[in-house]
Amino acid sequence: MERVGLYPGTFDPVTRGHVDIIERASRMMDRLIVGVSVREGKSPLFDLGERMSLLKASIAHLDTVEVRPFEGLLVDYAQSVGAQLVVRGLRAITDFEYEFQMALMNRSLAPDLETVFLMTHHEWIYLSSSLVKEIARHGGYVERFLPEPVATRLASKLGGDTTDELA
Ligand code: COA
Repeated sequence: MERVGLYPGTFDPVTRGHVDIIERASRMMDRLIVGVSVREGKSPLFDLGERMSLLKASIAHLDTVEVRPFEGLLVDYAQSVGAQLVVRGLRAITDFEYEFQMALMNRSLAPDLETVFLMTHHEWIYLSSSLVKEIARHGGYVERFLPEPVATRLASKLGGDTTDELA
């Protein structure tokens, strides 16, 4: 049976920490779907189309990975795409409680869906999309945290009058 994984997230924007998880997860399964949460409530800086195209550009070297939008319950989406595994990255102890709760809740909703945790590479353990945006907004150097297409897009987004978008 084909082993299909689902790596869900908001990816606002995708960072090198996410790409590291995607690369490693893709080696463990036949197909990996990166599910980009529509997540209007989180008021993303990048709209869904931009988040998806930045992801696609960042993982163009991985031919078993697809990028797709999702909304609604994760377990329903996983079932609709035939995924048996949900992949999550763990950065630090602080992630554990939330991830543990989410994994157990998902398991109670869909007992056959397994959650797999990958340890984030130590280089990216302190990274988050919000921190990157905040540092960039104040003119700090963020290129090393981002895939090249994302760094370029973020710089051009912040180059204009983006004060409102970032508020
Ligand atoms: N490297 C760098 N940063 C990482 C990372 C990694 N390996 N893994 C996670 N992060 C960061 C993200 O950038 C993000 O940062 P931000 O909060 O500053 O934007 C943060 O960690 C959280 O990750 P994110 O990708 O936004 O996912 P999430 O933890 O918010 O989860 C869903 C989002 C979509 C998986 C979850 O809300 C969901 O399943 N929703 C569907 C509805 C549902 O089924 N709910 C019931 C669940 S029990």
